[in-house]
Amino acid sequence: MSILSGVSEFFGLDIGTSLLRAVQLSGYGPVKALNKYGSVGISGNISVSDAKADQLKLADAIRSLVKDAGITTKNVAVGIPSNRVFTTVVDMERLSPAELAKTIKYQADSIIPTPLAESKIDWAPLGDSPKDPSKVEVLLSSVNNAYIESRLDMLEGAGFNVVAFEPDTFALVRSLIATDVAAPQMVLDIGTVSTDLVIAVKGAPRLTRSIPVGADTILKAAVHGLNIDPAQAAQFLYKFGLSKAKLEGQVYNAIISTIDNLTSEIEKSIKFFQTRYPNIIIDRIIVTGGASTLPEFPLHIANKFGINVEIGNSWRNITFPSGKQDELLSVSNHFAVAAGLAERST
Ligand SMILES: Nc1ncnc2c1ncn2[C@@H]1O[C@H](COP(=O)(O)OP(=O)(O)OP(=O)(O)O)[C@@H](O)[C@H]1O
Ligand SMILES: [Mg+2]
Repeated sequence: MSILSGVSEFFGLDIGTSLLRAVQLSGYGPVKALNKYGSVGISGNISVSDAKADQLKLADAIRSLVKDAGITTKNVAVGIPSNRVFTTVVDMERLSPAELAKTIKYQADSIIPTPLAESKIDWAPLGDSPKDPSKVEVLLSSVNNAYIESRLDMLEGAGFNVVAFEPDTFALVRSLIATDVAAPQMVLDIGTVSTDLVIAVKGAPRLTRSIPVGADTILKAAVHGLNIDPAQAAQFLYKFGLSKAKLEGQVYNAIISTIDNLTSEIEKSIKFFQTRYPNIIIDRIIVTGGASTLPEFPLHIANKFGINVEIGNSWRNITFPSGKQDELLSVSNHFAVAAGLAERST
């Protein structure tokens, strides 16, 4: 046990829909070194299923991932998928931390969508409110108790000690967003079934959303539009993407209305952000997740919104031997959540 922090060692765990990933860092100070990492594919829907048998399969998969990656600590920081978390920014009076806690508990029922008794809530002060200078902004998040308890049961049953639960979107901000840029930045994590969106300012999340469009949705559109089997559709999809020039634009035509659904939800989030923070321009959009590799997708987003788009580097805050560079960059778009969890200070 370290005297400098609560927990001396832990690893970050991302329980995704298609893959489980683990990352452990080592060292002290702001920049840590990559120590261990790994991933393992999971089949079916065991990462979201409540069935006991699936929970046991998931626990087994996590144990073997940890073993194969060579991770020896039992301490784990776990991500919470954004469709399980509600987050919002509220204006509060300037209060002492103890008074703030009391006020939030008192007001929570009118702020969070689920009953307070069934929810675990957490908050962090963000600074002065842009609406009312006498108040402060507070980032509030809530998660269903039953969900957290079932995850805890599963992980403790597998022999782990959970040191933190954190929304995936907060981990994305930590691993992908520069903290020294004053302008807000957006992260889009385009996963298997959904896209996580988060807008953050100087490393603090201000808006998070889960949009129900992901790689599977886009693939279904390709299967339907091209009238071919899923394996072949996936090949065409990840080879030609949103290129209008390739295959006479057939892949583009098959998927563009699904992509439009996604971009119109992104647009709504930008508008919502700007109602609270008028005159603040989003500096860039950082894309990650499996489907972010879709050819010409970043270009499409950049043109649509007139905002610079870059491919996220999950290892940007982490040091590693130069010989590992190619290997790490090739999996970078799958590791942003796990890396961000591992970069927590506990
Ligand atoms: N080259 C490719 N060929 C086929 N599929 C791909 C390719 N690249 C990405 N994908 C898709 O990316 C998805 C995996 O993305 P990612 O690792 O971000 O998902 P996840 O984190 O497991 O899911 P979620 O975040 O939704 O829980 C796969 O479901 C797959 O369909
Ligand atoms: Mg994911």
